[in-house]
Amino acid sequence: MPDAAQPAADEKVRSESPLHVAIIMDGNGRWAAARGLPRAEGHRRGVEALRRVVRAANELGILHLTIFSFSSENWSRPASEIGDLFGLLRRFIRNDLATLHRDGVRVRVIGEREGLEPDICALLGEAEELTRANTRLNLVVAFNYGSRQEIARAAQRLAREAAQGQRDPASIDADTLGRYLDAPDIPDPDLIIRTSGEQRLSNFLMWQAAYSELVFVPMHWPDFDKAALESAIAEYSTRERRFGGLVAKTGS
Ligand code: FPP
Repeated sequence: MPDAAQPAADEKVRSESPLHVAIIMDGNGRWAAARGLPRAEGHRRGVEALRRVVRAANELGILHLTIFSFSSENWSRPASEIGDLFGLLRRFIRNDLATLHRDGVRVRVIGEREGLEPDICALLGEAEELTRANTRLNLVVAFNYGSRQEIARAAQRLAREAAQGQRDPASIDADTLGRYLDAPDIPDPDLIIRTSGEQRLSNFLMWQAAYSELVFVPMHWPDFDKAALESAIAEYSTRERRFGGLVAKTGS
C-alpha cells in the first residue's frame, strides 16, 4: 500500500519531471564481455539495475515506467540465452512481486502472450492481478513486444470489427487505432532512455514515441542507477517540447 508520505499516482503534480519514462535496457552482453563474464551474468546484473531503477522511479515521482524486457526479435538469439532471459523473468516475478506490491507498484504487461510458455503467462497474469489496485507507479513490462506487431494486432481487431459490420472504416482515425494498442490508458512516454550508446528505437513504442524526448546514455544497462536516471531527467528538462505547435509546454 502507498504510505502517507508518498502521494498516490493520481495525486502527483505535473512538473518539469517526466510522468512516463520508457527505457531500452541495452548493453548487458557488452557489459559482461568487457569483464570476461558470460552474457547471462550481464542479464542477471541487468535485473539488479532494474530493481534500482524501479525504486528510483518511485522516489522521483514518475507515474509510469515502461521497460523493454524481451523483444519480438529477441527470438533470433541462441536458445540458451532465450532460456536465461525467461528464467530471469520468472525469478524476477517470483522474488520481487511481493516487494513491488508493498511499494504500490502496479504491474502491466504489453506484448504478445500467445506462444509464450503457459507458466510464464500465468506468472504475468498473477503479477497483473495481484497489483491491479496499486496506484503509485505503473510498471509496464514490454515482454515479447514489438511495436509493429502491436500496431498490426490493433489494425487486425479494427478490420475484424469493420468486416463484421460493427464499425465504419471511415471512422477509424489515429485516436481510434491508439485505443486498440496494448495499454491505451497509459499516456505516451515523455522520455525514452536507451543505454549503451545505440541510437535507435528498435521496434519499441514507435507509435507512442511520436513526441517523446529521446535520451541516449553511453553506459551499459547493468551500470544504470538512480543518478543516471536523474541525469537523463535533467537532460529531458532542458528540452523544449512543442508537439508540432509553436507554444512551448512541458509534459504530455
Ligand atoms: C539488451 O542487452 C537487453 C535485453 C535483450 C533484455 C533486457 C533484459 C534485462 C535487463 C534482464 C531481464 C529482465 C527481465 C524483467 C526479464 P543485450 O543482450 O542486447 O546487450 P548487447 O547489445 O551488449 O549484446
